[in-house]
This record gives sequence, C-alpha cells and structure tokens, in this order.
Amino acid sequence: MELLKVEGLRKYYYSGLFKKEVHRAVDGVSFEIGRGKTLGLVGKSGCGKSTLGKTVLRLLEPTSGRVLFEGQDISGFKGSALKSLGTRMQIIFQNPESCLNPRMKIYDAVAEPLRLHRLCEKDEERGRVQELIETVSLSEELLFRYPGELSGGQLQRVAIARALGMKPEFIVADEPTSMLDPLVQAQILSLLKKLQTEYEISFLFISHDLRVVEWMSDEVAIMEAGKIVGFMQ
Ligand SMILES: Nc1ncnc2c1ncn2[C@@H]1O[C@H](COP(=O)(O)OP(=O)(O)OP(=O)(O)O)[C@@H](O)[C@H]1O
Ligand SMILES: [Mg+2]
Repeated sequence: MELLKVEGLRKYYYSGLFKKEVHRAVDGVSFEIGRGKTLGLVGKSGCGKSTLGKTVLRLLEPTSGRVLFEGQDISGFKGSALKSLGTRMQIIFQNPESCLNPRMKIYDAVAEPLRLHRLCEKDEERGRVQELIETVSLSEELLFRYPGELSGGQLQRVAIARALGMKPEFIVADEPTSMLDPLVQAQILSLLKKLQTEYEISFLFISHDLRVVEWMSDEVAIMEAGKIVGFMQ
C-alpha cells in the first residue's frame, strides 16, 4: 500500500463581496507516494504548489477530495487525531526563519516540539536535542545562539532537525533550498537524501528548478493552474 494517496483534491479560495469570487488554486489533483519515495512537484509561480502541499497536510482545509494516509482518510480528522497526525507529517519551508521564533535559542527551537508532543522525558531532552543537531551536521555550540546569529543554510538545518524530532513518515519540502547559494543548496539536498534513506521518509518535493527536482525525485508531477498535467519518471 502507498503511504499517501491523494484523490481529487480541491482547494478553492473565495474572495470579494459575499465571497463570490472563486480562485481554484488546487483543482482536482490525484497522486500517490510510496514509503521512502519522493514525488517532485514543479510548476510556474502561482500554479498552486504550496496550496497543494498545505492542503495535503491539513494545514489548509480541503474544499473537496480525499487524502489517505496509510489507507486512512485523514480529510475529516479533528482534535487529537489531527494533533497526532501533526507529528507524522511535517513541512519544511523556503524561509526557515518563518518557523523559528527570533527570541528563542536554537536549543529551545529544537526542544519545543518534543515538549509539545511529549516525545521524550525531561531528563532525555538534552540528549535528544544533541542527537538531532548532530544528525543535521551542525555544531553543538550553535544550540545557545539565536536564529539571527545563524546563516541561511544553518537555519534550514535547524528547521530540518525540528521536523526530524517528530520522527515524521512524510515531509512536504516547499522550495527548501531556493533561497540558498548553490553550494549550500547542494549540501542541504544531500542531507535530505541521506535522511530519507536512513529513516525511510516520503517526500513531496516542491521546486521551480527542474534539475533539482529530477535529482531528488523518483517521479515528477507537473502542475499548471491547479491541475497536474503530467508525470515524468
Ligand atoms: N490565502 C489565499 N487567499 C486567496 N488566494 C490565495 C491564497 N493563497 C494563495 N492564493 C492564490 O492561489 C494561487 C496559488 O498559490 P500558491 O502559493 O499555492 O502557488 P505556488 O505554486 O506555490 O507559487 P510559488 O511558486 O510562487 O510559491 C495563487 O494565484 C495565489 O495568489
Ligand atoms: Mg509556493
């Protein structure tokens, strides 16, 4: 069975007077992603890639359609079911700053989700944070700095460590390296690939850059105006 199966997913944005204007950002999208596999997603700016990623994760409410995670329809999940789903599926954004509190030290940024989801005992926390920071190849001394004192590449590694703390089975990577210079970009992409093999994580990998997507993905979906218009192996 595929880890993730998306069927006829739609996300419409309503705007204007009496919410009568409809924008069909995601308009009937279907795909599958196997365990430990990567589906790349490419398409022009505004075609609906980020909306699709967020709707799959239930960060946005779908207008219609189904999302099956291990065969279970999660589109109607609420409350604690939705919260526990939140550890199994993660998102990594283009701007790691957007998920990091500037006044929170790196240590706490990595520890926060562990506390929130009670993923380790208090006396294990330090060890777990250290382990996570090593996994993303950051030096321990960065733990007591603030986000403003780190480079873009280092911040993206912190965001990845935070996500990994929840032992996710599925990650949406939304242009995770497009703000980074080419060398750092290559390092982060290699890190994601390494983690994928090590932990058998499935990815929806969103990018503008077809070369990057081809290198990262088992299969690539091409999106245009809310629809997937083709797949490439
Ligand atoms: N909250 C919102 N309300 C109304 N319309 C929105 C909202 N968010 C996005 N849109 C519109 O939906 C469309 C798809 O946006 P989305 O961000 O998913 O595109 P994208 O493919 O990720 O683009 P990019 O490559 O620039 O990141 C765009 O036309 C956008 O203007
Ligand atoms: Mg986007």
